[in-house]
Amino acid sequence: MSKHFVKNTGTAEINWQFFSDAEAVATAAAQRIVWEVNRKPDLVMCLPTGRTPLLTYSKLVELYRAGKVSFAQAHILNVDEYVGLGAGDVGSFADYMEKNLFCHIDIARENRHIPNGRAVNHEAEARRYDELIKSLGGIDFMVLGVGANGHVGFNEPGSYPDNTTHVASLSAETIATNRPDLPVDFQPEKAITIGLKTILDAHGILLLAAGVSKARPLEQLLGNGSVAEWPVAILRQRKNVTVFVDRDATP
Ligand code: GLP
Repeated sequence: MSKHFVKNTGTAEINWQFFSDAEAVATAAAQRIVWEVNRKPDLVMCLPTGRTPLLTYSKLVELYRAGKVSFAQAHILNVDEYVGLGAGDVGSFADYMEKNLFCHIDIARENRHIPNGRAVNHEAEARRYDELIKSLGGIDFMVLGVGANGHVGFNEPGSYPDNTTHVASLSAETIATNRPDLPVDFQPEKAITIGLKTILDAHGILLLAAGVSKARPLEQLLGNGSVAEWPVAILRQRKNVTVFVDRDATP
């Protein structure tokens, strides 16, 4: 059973739902995604990578196999990708999405969208991604994770709130956290990421947080953390945000 409260801060309205553990968060997140896709089969959905959503994707695949949902008309956009990595590269988010979700569901190949970290011109690739989002009519539903330092996507502390998709520098903390998932000979420095403005523009948002390292950034979201120091706090500036949090991450 989840406990649940809505906190209003100025214009914000965040719907907090608390679950016992990461598995319960994943079950609820997969069900919410299924509900969104069934409500709008041609949903334009933006999804994250990271360790947190892995369990959500495996639950989502189970629901798909049980015939509860079809992604045949949906578009899935990825939140970010490392500069220097792309489809077929171990450690790339393209590889992660393919392995953990895309190859198990009926999403059309042409409806799978990930910034190309191997593009020759990364700035141009970021602009292409923004144009793509626009041409799809904007993002209907976005799922996000959060880094221990409050980053969302790869919008690290100090990111500009008016950025759309752009090339971002990774913080030392994020590099150290993500290092184990990357090839030893790859030096992560930058990423192409949707921006804080892209997040503000999405119609609905679901933030997933599980584990003790997420309590601090959530405390900043719940309280008065500044966006400059804690990018996740940008969610206080908008409506239609739900946060699914497990006991360990509860601020
Ligand atoms: C990253 C990703 C984010 C993700 C965050 C948290 O590096 N760029 O999109 O939400 O880290 O990841 P995790 O779930 O592994 O803690």
